[in-house]
Amino acid sequence: MARSVKFENKEGILYITIDRQEALNALNVSVLEELYEVFTMAENSEEVKTVLLTGEGKAFVAGADIQQMYEMSPKEGRDMAKLGHKVMNLIENMEKPVIALINGFALGGGLELALACDFRIASTKAKVGQPEVGLGIIPGFGGTQRLAKLIGKGKAKRLIMTGEIIDGLKALELGIVEEVTEPDTLMEKGVALAETIMKKAPLAVGAAKTAINKSMDVDSKSGSDFEIESFSSVFSTEDKMEGMSAFLEKREAAFKNK
Ligand code: HXC
Repeated sequence: MARSVKFENKEGILYITIDRQEALNALNVSVLEELYEVFTMAENSEEVKTVLLTGEGKAFVAGADIQQMYEMSPKEGRDMAKLGHKVMNLIENMEKPVIALINGFALGGGLELALACDFRIASTKAKVGQPEVGLGIIPGFGGTQRLAKLIGKGKAKRLIMTGEIIDGLKALELGIVEEVTEPDTLMEKGVALAETIMKKAPLAVGAAKTAINKSMDVDSKSGSDFEIESFSSVFSTEDKMEGMSAFLEKREAAFKNK
């Protein structure tokens, strides 16, 4: 069967595109499995430094596949939610940065996928929302948790409990995305962000991502302890010596990911 998740590595950036345009890139079980496979490869490949994730056509992802969910038993629905969580957790917890480029509809599970990424850049054509309550369900790929943590309980409840669909600028105002740009500059904005991060020490970038994620899950004392341990582990890297030497010698650092 033709694959719906396309990918290509160019100079350390893995470009992942969800291409199932006949269903506006909706996530069915097989697309979720493909995403899991491709992100596992991204996590383990030394050739991949950063990931850019987008959708082909007029959608980023218009949600989980409603046709498929319609026919599912409650047990199958639960398994679908679990599979989705497995994919989102993989993306959130991998050390490499993942940037979502929201080119169009990012609804339901599509917005949840973007929320699992580290950064979200939306085009002015983006339409985002959590319309699940209109289908008699709730977000099931982490949306009730990640959206509330990202923008606060009140704003998350308003979006999720009304099912309202908003545009990129409104998403920026709410803090769901960090940047909005014209459709034809979406990719270049993503590449610019990826390249900026790739100039930094990769182990430090990964440790910072993990420590910030930790802050969402543990009390502040445990989070601070975790930061001290992470700080001390990057303090012993070759790249720490390189970064500081480069500063003192007034030159650019050449990091080795060591
Ligand atoms: C399956 C979908 C789909 C989806 C669109 N399609 N979204 N198929 N699942 N989520 C299909 C349509 O059925 C249609 O197929 C084709 O894609 C084009 O869509 P249209 O509706 O004709 O396009 P348009 O009029 O432009 O409307 C775009 C849209 C609308 C506003 C995005 O498609 C829409 O409301 N989609 C559903 C969005 C949604 O409710 N998402 C949340 C799903 S629940 P045909 O064959 O007719 O051409 C969810 C839960 C996550 O995500 C957690 C699960 C555990």
